[in-house]
Amino acid sequence: MPPTFPASPASSPSLSLFSASLPSRDSVVAALRAAGCVFAEDEARLILTAAGTAAELTALVDRRVTGLPLELVLGWAEFRGLRIAVAPGVFVPRRRTEFLVSEALAHAPHAAVVVDLCCGSGAVGAGLAAALDRPEVHAADVDPVAVRCARGNLAGAGGRVYAGDLFDALPGALRGRVDILAANVPYVPTGEVALLPAEARDHEPLVALDGGADGLDVLRRVAAEAPGWLVPGGCLLVETSERQAPAAVDAFRRAGLTTRLAVCEELYAHVVIGVGD
Ligand SMILES: C[S@@+](CC[C@H](N)C(=O)[O-])C[C@H]1O[C@@H](n2cnc3c(N)ncnc32)[C@H](O)[C@@H]1O
Repeated sequence: MPPTFPASPASSPSLSLFSASLPSRDSVVAALRAAGCVFAEDEARLILTAAGTAAELTALVDRRVTGLPLELVLGWAEFRGLRIAVAPGVFVPRRRTEFLVSEALAHAPHAAVVVDLCCGSGAVGAGLAAALDRPEVHAADVDPVAVRCARGNLAGAGGRVYAGDLFDALPGALRGRVDILAANVPYVPTGEVALLPAEARDHEPLVALDGGADGLDVLRRVAAEAPGWLVPGGCLLVETSERQAPAAVDAFRRAGLTTRLAVCEELYAHVVIGVGD
């Protein structure tokens, strides 16, 4: 899960720069740039579109320059062309994870039953639902804040979102029926969480980031239990890092899945794909 955020704003320039009248686009860009936002022009465009009044604009820019991730300032993140609502305390879906969804769709373009495990905002489930023909969508997360957020994002697809630890959260009736089991699990090694950019470290819950000593604790648990939930030919997909990929592939193979690694150089994305018997 290496983040894709721009560099974190270093300090908080005062927005007393702004008067009661609507600040100009240039002044917004300048404030964002002074705060260290790498993509100040793009961010300014989005923030200006989101604000209805000068006071709202000042508040949004203030939040951004104090280091709140852009997606939390706006209240949404773009994922596969969808606007996914995000709330404070919920992992912001990364563009990199779009590759996991593409790989799932390539493997199972007619999937009828989809599970988004470790769903966070539900972006992966929403991306799958939008591309498939009215699939049955299930999602689960251990964090109640994420569950609430995913319920909103998956309501339009008729998705059901459960709270609980991995497969324990799912209805038993799904066993042996799942065509696509997508799990973007936490995979940052515990010792490296402190090295993440501040936007992830300070604004995303540890449970969404920390994957244990080598980052693969949750992945191994998911791989071990997945075969019992997949329909014959169904697939498990988990995002990992380049460094972790060999051990992740090994965990899938040990679970009895026919396994391969898919890589997208452009997004620097690594997805382990395992197919059940
Ligand atoms: C890296 S985030 C991914 C969220 C979302 N799938 C995405 O791609 O944006 C990992 C998510 O796993 C959840 N999680 C961590 N441990 C879990 C567990 N044991 N059972 C269920 N969910 C878990 C976290 O709460 C977090 O929402």
